Amino acid sequence: MKLGAQVVIQVYPDKEAMSRAAAELFVEQAGQALRLRGRFCVALSGGNTPRRMYELLAQPPFRDRVAWAQVQVFWGDERCVPADDPRSNAHLARQVWLDQVPISPQQIHPVSGNLPPEAAARAYEALLKSFFAGQPPSFDLIFLGLGEDGHTASLFPDHEVLNEQVRWAAEVYLAETDLPRVTLTFPLINQAAVVALLVTGAAKARVLKEVLQGPREPRRLPAQLVHPQSGALFWLVDQEAASQLQKNPDIKFISDDA
Ligand code: 6PG
Repeated sequence: MKLGAQVVIQVYPDKEAMSRAAAELFVEQAGQALRLRGRFCVALSGGNTPRRMYELLAQPPFRDRVAWAQVQVFWGDERCVPADDPRSNAHLARQVWLDQVPISPQQIHPVSGNLPPEAAARAYEALLKSFFAGQPPSFDLIFLGLGEDGHTASLFPDHEVLNEQVRWAAEVYLAETDLPRVTLTFPLINQAAVVALLVTGAAKARVLKEVLQGPREPRRLPAQLVHPQSGALFWLVDQEAASQLQKNPDIKFISDDA
């Protein structure tokens, strides 16, 4: 794999097929990380798109292909709400997946939704620094979503957090909602070995076209700033989300029986 150069765009017939491919990627990256480093550090996205992937990972065959005792789970972003709040990204992952696989609470590292946003961001960064303990903070796999406005994680258009080059996690306040968030920053995201953006549905077709094939406008389209320095970037999308993409050799269309 050429360093920092591998961008893989794969289009699946539907959300189910994309979710199965994402679950397969999780299993493959987990196996590779465990062989190389004896542990697998993954950061999950929020939103609804990953739900089906989570459900698949909670059941055979995917569930039986992961050495859960060596998996360490983090989040790419989180809303500043209590852990049992339905808006919590960690709440969804626990409900449909993590509570159903043999993984201990000590391996699950949610953002502290009960702290004030800045304290929660500082605490999460301290956790990450302690976890990576002097090594490069390189996640083996980070899942991200894509908002219709071009945001990813909680890295929103024209937000000052896009300029953050030092902190690994930061608090995000949005004018249009009173729901503060904590997000990993691009300096941390782009040190990952693999980043996979999961995008489905016709509503994302316009923004996916702009992000992947439009002019480079990263302040308006923050997802354009996702680029692992020496890792691989996967776009796993369904045909509805890919419907406006111009076909070219960089885009692989995966058929049902792949
Ligand atoms: C969040 C997410 C956010 C999400 C996108 C896509 O906390 O909201 O991290 O970045 O991934 O908004 O959301 P959907 O998957 O629901 O379309």
